[in-house]
Formats: sequence, C-alpha cells, structure tokens
Amino acid sequence: MEAGRRRRRPSRAKRNLTTGIAVAISGGILYGLAPGSGPLERFSIAAAHLAVLLFAFTLAIGPVRTLRREPSPVSTDRRRDLGIWTAILGLVHTIAGLEVHLGGEFRRYFTIEGLFAGAPQPAKILFVASNYIGAVAAVLLLILLGLSNDLSLAKLGRDRWKRAQRTAYLILPMLIAHGAIYQLLERRAAGLVVIFAAAILSVLGLQLAGARLRSRGPMPGPVADGPQIAHVRGDATG
Ligand code: HEM
Repeated sequence: MEAGRRRRRPSRAKRNLTTGIAVAISGGILYGLAPGSGPLERFSIAAAHLAVLLFAFTLAIGPVRTLRREPSPVSTDRRRDLGIWTAILGLVHTIAGLEVHLGGEFRRYFTIEGLFAGAPQPAKILFVASNYIGAVAAVLLLILLGLSNDLSLAKLGRDRWKRAQRTAYLILPMLIAHGAIYQLLERRAAGLVVIFAAAILSVLGLQLAGARLRSRGPMPGPVADGPQIAHVRGDATG
C-alpha cells in the first residue's frame, strides 16, 4: 500500500507540474492578447479566461468518459486537480477584477449610485448584475475548493459529496452571463470572444452528447473503492 502510494505520487505531482507549465504559457499568451488599461486589468482578463478554459476541461472529463463508454468514478485526482486550478485562477481573477475599475473601491461594484457618471443606465445595471453573478460564482468555487479533498468526501459520503460537486453545473451559466456581459460592455476583440465561446460551446456540446448517450441505455457504473470513499488516484482515470 505504502509502496504503491510512493509510486503514484510523482505521477500526480508531474501532472500538476505539466498543468502549471501549460497555465503559465497560456497565461502569457492570453496576457499578450488581452486589452486593458494596465497590467492588472490584462492579468485579470488572462486569469479569467484561463479559469473558464480549465473549468471547461474539468466539466468535459465526465462526458468524454461516457462517450468512450468507460465507468465514471465519483472522484479522481485528475478532475479534482483541474477543479482546484480552476477555483484558484477564478479567485485570483476575482481579486484582480475588483481592483481594476472604480479605483479599486469594490463596494461601488455592487451599487448603481455614483457609478461611471454619464454612462447609460442599462450599462450600469448590467455592470452591477454581472458583478453579483461573478461574486456568487466565486463563493461557489470557494466552497467547491474547500470540498476537494478526501476528508470532505469521507465526511459527506459519496452521494452527498457528488451532489455538492454538481453545483459546478450552476456555476457554468453564471460564468456565461458574467463573462458575456463584460465582453459586451467592454466591446472585447474577436480573439477573446472566440476563446470564451469555444470553451463554453465545447462543454455544452459534450454534456449534451453524453446525456443523449446515457438516455439510450445503462452505462458502466461509478467506480467505488468502499462504501463512503469513491476517489480514484493516478493517471489511468479521468
Ligand atoms: C466578485 C467576483 C468577480 C468580479 C468582481 C469580477 C470582475 C470582472 C471584471 C472587472 C471583468 C472585466 C475584465 C477586467 O477588467 O478584468 C471580468 C470579466 C470576466 N470575468 Fe470576472 N469577476 C468576478 C468573478 C469571476 C469568476 C469567478 C470567473 C470565472 C471563474 C470570472 C470570469 C470572467 C470572464 C470569463 C470575464 C470576461 C473577460 C473579458 O473581459 O474578456 N469572473 N470580471
């Protein structure tokens, strides 16, 4: 058992190192593509798009397994790690995003009064609405981050833990609304809009294809290694 654990650890560390390198390279490219009035805004935009891309990868794992007709474990290292990267980048973007407008007075992000003198009322309402939606998404990401460990899985049990993780499907429409409103308000260039739309449409397409396949008949069941713990380690599973 111990020897097995020792053998598997480097593979998870290696995968996270690879993810970290991929995040750094794509972050650099996105930073280069990002418009913005300064480095902080460009950093915020790059982190936002990276978070959405990683979120798309995380949500794609389940449907891809379904389409390959592979059993779907309740939890795996790969999905957990991608989820953790998503949450961290989403929260980094949130902190940076709260600094880039209105001189960093973030209370003004959430009230219409005194907001951008001269801006049309609908734009102000959309700005505030987008920030509330982003804030709820950020809180949900924080909760999911807190649940992404063996202890929470053992405490909640696999069914309740899985139900809690499905909150991710509530976050998806929030990110669509929040990101799209900002892209509209800030009149983003086609490149960023295409990246954002491609990530969202790929997840929606895969989820739909997976759901259609599941509706046709029974699929291989979830992998469980005990009555409460259903986490699968290593690279073999998504
Ligand atoms: C209180 C929470 C949040 C605030 C205040 C916030 C703030 C902002 C701001 C100011 C922008 C415009 C771009 C910029 O100037 O940075 C933006 C855009 C965006 N945000 Fe957020 N955000 C929040 C949460 C999130 C979360 C949790 C995510 C994803 C995990 C996210 C994803 C995006 C995306 C995809 C865009 C579009 C980027 C673009 O403008 O092209 N946001 N957000």
